[in-house]
Amino acid sequence: MNFLINPSRIYDSKLTVPGDKSVSHRALMLGGIAKGCTRIRGFLAGQDCLSTMSSMKSLGVKIDMPTQTDMLIQGVGLYGLSDPKIDLDLGNSGTGMRLIAGLLAGQDFSSRLTGDVSLSGRPMGRIIKPLSKMGAKITSDIDETPPLQILGKSKLRAIHYDLPIASAQVKSAILLAGLYAEGITTLTEPAVTRDHTERMLISMGARLSISGKKLSIEGKHELNGCDIAVPSDLSSASFIILAVLISKKADVLIENVGINPTRIGVIDILRSMGANITLENEQQKSGEPVADIRVKSSKLVGSVIDPSLVSLAIDEFPVLFVAAAFSEGKTTFSGIGELRVKESDRIAAMSEGLKKLGIRVDEYPDGAIIYGGEFSGGEVHSKGDHRIAMSLAVAGTIANDQVIIKDIDSVDTSFPGFCECMTEIGADIQRIEAS
Ligand code: S3P
Repeated sequence: MNFLINPSRIYDSKLTVPGDKSVSHRALMLGGIAKGCTRIRGFLAGQDCLSTMSSMKSLGVKIDMPTQTDMLIQGVGLYGLSDPKIDLDLGNSGTGMRLIAGLLAGQDFSSRLTGDVSLSGRPMGRIIKPLSKMGAKITSDIDETPPLQILGKSKLRAIHYDLPIASAQVKSAILLAGLYAEGITTLTEPAVTRDHTERMLISMGARLSISGKKLSIEGKHELNGCDIAVPSDLSSASFIILAVLISKKADVLIENVGINPTRIGVIDILRSMGANITLENEQQKSGEPVADIRVKSSKLVGSVIDPSLVSLAIDEFPVLFVAAAFSEGKTTFSGIGELRVKESDRIAAMSEGLKKLGIRVDEYPDGAIIYGGEFSGGEVHSKGDHRIAMSLAVAGTIANDQVIIKDIDSVDTSFPGFCECMTEIGADIQRIEAS
């Protein structure tokens, strides 16, 4: 399918976006290995999380979904997972594969993890290395890409690991394996990354201590199931935020969005560019801070983006590239080389897309300079990446002419209902059959 977007008038409105992807993955995995029942409300029924759900079911966890967003997990306890007998297909999801690899590294049975074409090209050496140090036996394709074969009956030992890259996925894989290791596993991060795993582990009674960028987890302790209210996903909200910011005159409220301090880099960066974004009704739900986000159309100015904010906004750079293209002057991004190994090479994909829409972009190995300008109409490709498709679709709302985004099926991995939410705020967007 493709998106077809016409120049749009965004209007005052109030809406909610679907649940947080990172929290939903973790709730499924930790709920599955906890003792007792875990009830999830606000679950993201996007393809990525559904792949994790079917993997957990294949591992013997009973999961009921009375509604699209409510879920009841009968946890099997730390040692209750069973041999899946079939390959676990994690679809498009790097989070699903890397976290589940950590979970499976210390099981009695072997498993094989597969994924789609995009996931099959993503680097897994970053988890294979620390998990192997813990005693896991994991093999991959020659270039350390999936499929992953995890050998059962490996006795895990606690290690100390200094993460060479800032990655919540790697950190979480080690923490999950650490639950099965003898002793206390410690790790340090080079920069703060999203801490949903830590928060949920603590809510479930794990012996986890945190001191700045250093974490320690004691293995062999059972977790207890709990109620989890998943906040709306700030990463999904960011597309709506961008659409409002660049619109002529609108004031939109996005309700109940997760504002975990390890995720709000996008808000800080946009504010530094002049965005009018305020947080209302701040509260805590299931150990995660949430708020209603009010956004108003704003005049943005280009700036030099602080590289220390990169790990706090890692998924929002496609959105920020569009914000930069709308801004007056030039915006410099650096230290974002990790974007090249996401669902697509996001620096290249956004540069190509923006250039096709008439924006000047200078691309560098770990960054880009984007020059503010006017978007022309045209046809651009998502590269099969959900965040590229949605970011370029938002750019289309203020383009001079019609914009077509090709290959947008991946949008459902993280933001089912994107088109409907955009329509709700006034965007003239529709899905059309690819010709
Ligand atoms: C995620 C961590 C990030 C992010 C991904 C979700 C997570 O990846 O890009 O979309 O849920 O842990 P890295 O940790 O590899 O940067």
